[in-house]
Amino acid sequence: MKRTLSLPGLAYGGDYNPEQWPEEVWAEDVRLMAEAGVNMVSVNIFSWALLEPAEGAYDFSRLDRILDMLYTHGIAADLATPTAAPPAWFFRAHPEALPVDRDGRRLSYGSRQTFCPSSPAYRAAALRIAGELGRRYADHPAVVMWHVHNEYGCHNAECHCDTSAEAFRRWLRTRYADDLAALNDAWGTTFWSQWYYDWDEIIPPRATGAVPNPTHQLDWRRFCSDELLSLCTAERDVLREAAPSTPATTNFMVMYNFDALDYWRWAPELDVVSNDHYLRSTDPESEIDIALSGDLVRSLAGGPWLLMEHSTGAVNWQHVNRAKGPGELRRNALAHVARGADGIAFFQWRAAKAGAEQWHSAMLPHAGTDSVIWRDVVQLGADLRALAEVRGSRGVAEVAVVWDWNAKWALELPSQPSEEVRQLDLVRSWYEPLWRAGIAVDFVRPGADLSAYRLVLAPSLYLVDDAGAENLTGFTERGGTLVVGFHSGAVDENCHVRLGGYPGAFREALGVRTDELFPLLPGETVGLEGGGTGSLWSERVRPTGAQVVSSYTDGPLTGVPALTRHGYGTGTAWYVATLPDPDTLTALLDRIRTEAGVTPVRVTPEGVEAALRRGRDADYLFLIDHRGKGAEVPVAADAVELLTGRPLTDGSVTVPPGGVAVVREPRSVLP
Ligand code: GAL
Repeated sequence: MKRTLSLPGLAYGGDYNPEQWPEEVWAEDVRLMAEAGVNMVSVNIFSWALLEPAEGAYDFSRLDRILDMLYTHGIAADLATPTAAPPAWFFRAHPEALPVDRDGRRLSYGSRQTFCPSSPAYRAAALRIAGELGRRYADHPAVVMWHVHNEYGCHNAECHCDTSAEAFRRWLRTRYADDLAALNDAWGTTFWSQWYYDWDEIIPPRATGAVPNPTHQLDWRRFCSDELLSLCTAERDVLREAAPSTPATTNFMVMYNFDALDYWRWAPELDVVSNDHYLRSTDPESEIDIALSGDLVRSLAGGPWLLMEHSTGAVNWQHVNRAKGPGELRRNALAHVARGADGIAFFQWRAAKAGAEQWHSAMLPHAGTDSVIWRDVVQLGADLRALAEVRGSRGVAEVAVVWDWNAKWALELPSQPSEEVRQLDLVRSWYEPLWRAGIAVDFVRPGADLSAYRLVLAPSLYLVDDAGAENLTGFTERGGTLVVGFHSGAVDENCHVRLGGYPGAFREALGVRTDELFPLLPGETVGLEGGGTGSLWSERVRPTGAQVVSSYTDGPLTGVPALTRHGYGTGTAWYVATLPDPDTLTALLDRIRTEAGVTPVRVTPEGVEAALRRGRDADYLFLIDHRGKGAEVPVAADAVELLTGRPLTDGSVTVPPGGVAVVREPRSVLP
């Protein structure tokens, strides 16, 4: 049973670290929070050293005052366990709890999240303080949610020490039911004399002379994700024991190539799914990254979720940290709401003057309230209040994109046909045309129930188990449209190549067979019949039933099919054997989705994002202008623009240049 976060409207706030400031500042904090409409803050995230000055000696007096103050001022607390930053005294007592990297270097304390996930001393200390905290604040009226730890795996996803090695072996014994022969078989250890005769011979994939065994590395990634998950659920359980009805969350990071955790396994363990999202300064269209991230998190949550962190302006951890342009803070935040967020929070409330993040933006900047960021923060608070009724509404999509962390990990191991192939890049390439066309998308794992979808896309699914592959091909057989990208279905869950021709698991459904792969060099392209080009990849495909849609017009594969279409059962399966240039990919996906009967949320001018949330009694259409030109967009009769409260009587809404409109429409508008 999932516990829900009960707040009257959308949550609004940020990480609040008052312990970093003299108490005189706190009064100003709560006064300004009221001005901005902040109704929930995350507290205590990194304050272990202050709460437990020496092992077993606790001082909760400051946290008592903070929580009481928040309650008095009507601000709810998302109370964190401080376990992401163990104090110095802990490491002096337990130096073995410091993590070891793959080169055998033991790291030092002095920053944060530098502990071995398998350390018994760390686990015991973390559970002790989580238990103390849980019991002390179980009934505190300010506390509405537990924030377990912070961004598990952000800095210490892997530890290669001997304790971790032991934990890895225990995990392997469970996975392979104590059968060492089964492990040897799964890992293919007859290769390069890697056969194991004793469990104790197995170590983490530490730095070694040549390429480590792929399945060894893949199982290691699975283990590392599970090991951190077990810390998370252990903390959750001690909190739950103290306060059985308080929901628990932990903040995920599904984007910017953070891929240490298999969040499909994590999401069901949490009452509320939350995510952190930051823009990359080098991404010229970060609005697409926000949408993709939001769709993925909503899919993990199976409904509404919380944006636990993003930034009001520049971060401090990129090469050059770009500030946000006019209106960007508002567009960014409301774009997350459009994708299902029921709350918006920032890192952090007040910009730090000291410490490693002193140059990170915040809701209240160093400059104080006479600043563009503060005015934007106050405006956003008003916007979120105006949108209170969207809380609990959900996404509706006819298109699913297959996303799997196991497939990503396996694809991105060394010694692939091409190290240029990256799952997120491919997914983003396919997602972009859908985003531009206003097509709603869910993300699914290969074995998911696909009955709600007309169209399923698998841009990059290198690894798939038999059940996942059958689920996807069965969807086609029963009338669905499936589109598969190159190098998918290539290996099984143990990273063993599926023999007999590529793309192994999907050969039959796609009606093609490839006998050799021809990855392309960086910058190299091949011509495609019809005028476009392909990059990154090509392969010698032979149709075995599929119809050829386009072939290569130059290079060693001239005349060989690059895009194919196959009637399979009562459905259709497409194969995309290269990365088509953006225009060609757009035309292809437009054609496929039109044939599949998929319609956009709303047709909008270029650069105006459209996304829809469906409530019990109404639909909420979000329109966001990212190109600064503004737009008139048709809406249903009896619609209301919620940010202004204006009834829309002439059948259209004006999206101001660089602005946002959120339109409540009767539910009947979409099928
Ligand atoms: C997150 C982290 C925050 C803060 C933020 C800065 O990864 O959870 O504590 O460091 O990054 O962007």
